[in-house]
Parts: sequence; C-alpha cells; structure tokens
Amino acid sequence: MRIAPIMPDAFPALAPALRDILIECVGLGASIGFLAPLSLEAADAFWAGCIRGVAAGERLMWGAWVREELVGTVQIVVGMPANQQHRVDLVKLMTKPSARGGGIGAALTLAAEAEASRLGRSLVVLDTVAGNLAQRLYERLGYEAAGVIPDYARSSAGPLEPTCIMFKRLAPPAA
Ligand SMILES: CC(C)(COP(=O)(O)OP(=O)(O)OC[C@H]1O[C@@H](n2cnc3c(N)ncnc32)[C@H](O)[C@@H]1OP(=O)(O)O)[C@@H](O)C(=O)NCCC(=O)NCCS
Repeated sequence: MRIAPIMPDAFPALAPALRDILIECVGLGASIGFLAPLSLEAADAFWAGCIRGVAAGERLMWGAWVREELVGTVQIVVGMPANQQHRVDLVKLMTKPSARGGGIGAALTLAAEAEASRLGRSLVVLDTVAGNLAQRLYERLGYEAAGVIPDYARSSAGPLEPTCIMFKRLAPPAA
C-alpha cells in the first residue's frame, strides 16, 4: 500500500477512480454527505470542489494505492477561522469496498494526522455515524467521543441517524 498526497496537477488522471470510490461507498450506505444513488455528475462536482480547496490551501487530500490502483482517500480541512488555527477537521475518509479491512482507512487517517501535526496543529475533529465501523476504527486510533447528536443525517435507507463527534489531541512533531 502506498499513501501519498493528491495534488491538483494529478487530479485529472485520478478523477475517474475518485468518482468510482465515492459512488460505490455511497451506494453501500456510507454517510458521507450524499444519498444514494449518487450521479456521476454529482460525484465529479464534489471532487472538483475538493481539489479547488486543495489548490486554495484550504484542505489537504491523500490517496491510498494498492498495485497502482487508487483504493482510498481522506482529507483534512486546514482553512480554519482565526481562533481555531490549531486544529483540523478530518473528513471524507473512504476505502473502496473491495479493499476494506486491510488497514487502508487506518493508514490514511495516520498520514493525515502526521501532516496536521507537522503543520503545528494539535487537535483533530471529525464526525461519524454513531456506532458504525468507522467509529470503532477511530477509537482504535485514539479518538475520543465528545458526544452523540441524534437524528443528525438521513441515511440512504431512509431513517435519520445519530452522529458521534470525535476528537484526538496530537502530540507535537518530534524535533
Ligand atoms: C470506514 C472505512 C474508511 C474503513 O476503511 P478500511 O480500509 O476498511 O479501514 P481499516 O482496514 O483500517 O479498518 C477497518 C476495520 O474493519 C475491520 N474489517 C475487517 N474486515 C473487513 C472488511 N472485509 N470490510 C470492512 N472492514 C473490515 C478491520 O479489521 C478494522 O476493524 P478495527 O478498526 O476494529 O481494527 C471504510 O469502511 C469506508 O470507506 N466506509 C464508508 C465511508 C465511511 O463511512 N467513512 C467514514 C466517514 S467518518
């Protein structure tokens, strides 16, 4: 597995794989801001917006490759208000369903944390559907649950689902 940043110049070549990952994840019920079925156009528009954010210095994005195939991705939002420059939001962690369970989600999260720490950020905040597999993954990586908000987002299956707000303090980078 190789984890590397996704920069704007590489985006056109990666756009089809990113589109597939997003559509597959949403199709399998991932609660990452969309309802299934997600159209090609909506997926492409989402990633184009993300990469504009990367180009603007508002967010950073990583990919995970297995045998040259892009199989996962994550982002951190670094463009924070003036009084929250010490923290990042970790968002849009997703692994292609066929590649799950091999440590890609954990490796992406750790790569994003390492860069946040290198940038001098000391706090990571995220939200995830309460009680799901991703929450367990984050807990294993040292995230604490701040609390659960009921009825936070609608699932593609219909019902409203609770979200768990989680955080992790980052140690300063080794000198
Ligand atoms: C959450 C997600 C990113 C995890 O990706 P991943 O590459 O499978 O992550 P990892 O392999 O590091 O960890 C997955 C966990 O599921 C377990 N697992 C084992 N086999 C698995 C399988 N076939 N499929 C999924 N998970 C499996 C792993 O052992 C691990 O459990 P642990 O955390 O208790 O050790 C992935 O399930 C996903 O894309 N979900 C949809 C999007 C989503 O919900 N993202 C989170 C938004 S906050």
